Amino acid sequence: MIAIHETTPFDDQKPGTSGLRKKVPVFQKPRYVENFIQSIFDSLAGYRGRTLVVGGDGRFYNREVIQIVIKMALANGFGRVIVGQGGILSTPAVSHLIRKNEAFGGIVLSASHNPGGADGDFGIKYNAGNGGPANEKFTNAIFERSKAIDRYAIAEIGDVDLDEIGSSEIEGMTLEVVDPVADYAALMETLFDFDAIRAHVRGGFTIAFDAMHAVTGPYAVEILENRLGAAKGTARNAVPLPDFGGHHPDPNLVYAKELYDLMMSPDAPDFGAASDGDGDRNLIIGKDMYVAPSDSLAALAANMHLAPGYKDGPVGIARSMPTSAAADEVAKALGIDIYETPTGWKFFGSLLDAGKVTICGEESAGTGSDHVREKDGLWAVLLWLNILAVRKESVAEIMRDHWARYGRNYYSRHDYEAIDAAAANKLMDDLRGRLDTLSGQMFAGLAVAQADDFSYTDPVDNSVTEHQGIRILFEGGSRIVMRLSGTGTEGATLRVYIERYEPKDGHLDLDTQAALSDLIEAAEAIASIAKRTGRNAPSVIA
Ligand code: G1P
Ligand code: ZN
Repeated sequence: MIAIHETTPFDDQKPGTSGLRKKVPVFQKPRYVENFIQSIFDSLAGYRGRTLVVGGDGRFYNREVIQIVIKMALANGFGRVIVGQGGILSTPAVSHLIRKNEAFGGIVLSASHNPGGADGDFGIKYNAGNGGPANEKFTNAIFERSKAIDRYAIAEIGDVDLDEIGSSEIEGMTLEVVDPVADYAALMETLFDFDAIRAHVRGGFTIAFDAMHAVTGPYAVEILENRLGAAKGTARNAVPLPDFGGHHPDPNLVYAKELYDLMMSPDAPDFGAASDGDGDRNLIIGKDMYVAPSDSLAALAANMHLAPGYKDGPVGIARSMPTSAAADEVAKALGIDIYETPTGWKFFGSLLDAGKVTICGEESAGTGSDHVREKDGLWAVLLWLNILAVRKESVAEIMRDHWARYGRNYYSRHDYEAIDAAAANKLMDDLRGRLDTLSGQMFAGLAVAQADDFSYTDPVDNSVTEHQGIRILFEGGSRIVMRLSGTGTEGATLRVYIERYEPKDGHLDLDTQAALSDLIEAAEAIASIAKRTGRNAPSVIA
């Protein structure tokens, strides 16, 4: 039985960098989820009888929201819903299932690397038929709709069983509960040389993968342990928990410190990696060698032809603007195009769909390819493993060889989390107002060559996206970028991205923060970060 309920709008349902993210208690307000889901459906056309894929990272409130989505999909006329067993699907697995089943779209329930639990974060994101996050035009339409919505439709039925794999009919709609891992693992087998990796592992190569109590646990156990023969226990913290064991499931040097310490210790395995809440991010650490995500993108692009699924090498590379230019050097050497997009995976979709790029990456630990339309943590891990199995060198040897060929982009991001939103906006506005006057000025001994507010024109659909971060370029090619996060749920987060290029015959083995010290000083001199935010140091240095 289908019920139409009256509702009134909420004024804060504006999707950010990656869907709608709020604290759990906000999503628990009566009608909050229903309004947003109905706003998504109302912004779509032509989905009657078609398929919707639904899954989430298992965080607190996942199961409840999945039930609502299924009942509303039925009431709104979808013909079939595919859902991961237990409501679990990693973000890249959702993307793959949408594509494989030619679904109309999908709904991902996750707040990615943000903490979970009853007081943690939750999120809802719509992905289109190409498997990728909805574009800006569509997310704006959802927001507009959410401000006017006055009713929603829902099937008045009991909760559906999410735990039994199989297909059932519910009031004319098909519900398919699928194994969350099987299709994804099969896709990985088509891209990578599992035999070569298996042989390398048999030869004594050791791995530590930290799933951070989040969604990649079951994927890593199946792929790394069961299919590739890595020892039991290779996947650590492998059981997804609703509160991620009380941790931030964010694979960076702060929240994955245990893994980092292990990799820097005398008993380090050969390869360390971690992924985030919903499985789209990756952290790569070799024995005694942390690989910065921007460097990982460059090294993967330079070596991906060693994996069977990419034997012709990339046709083009895309990176987000704040990501370092390390990949640009690889593109130059390969004679292929490099694209610089705003922050957020949604901007890569049109380039991937148009066949302009094979690999994309962001400095925020995201890397992926044209196999899906999301970044993909385990994919990056497997590509690294494939390259290591073929080259039979260590991660450190591969990185040193990379810098000796292409030069090194020293790179770091300083985050000031949960600062006062008004102060953060004022900092950015004031800086924006001074952009014209900055060029020619000296800060910490560095001369500004150019300063602007990044604006992007999509080369495929010509859509323009403005105000995507302030870039301050110095004589000699160093750079500072500042922008405010679009995924935080508390106050504002200021991100300061710092980069310096060292040519291949220069100093390639410096400590990163030391190599960037004058630029760090310049950032403070330009923006008075300490004074304006009341913080003497960043909350996270990545
Ligand atoms: C952050 C990252 C960005 C990534 C996004 C979603 O967004 O910086 O690269 O695409 O999370 O994972 P931000 O909070 O900076 O807007
Ligand atoms: Zn994520």
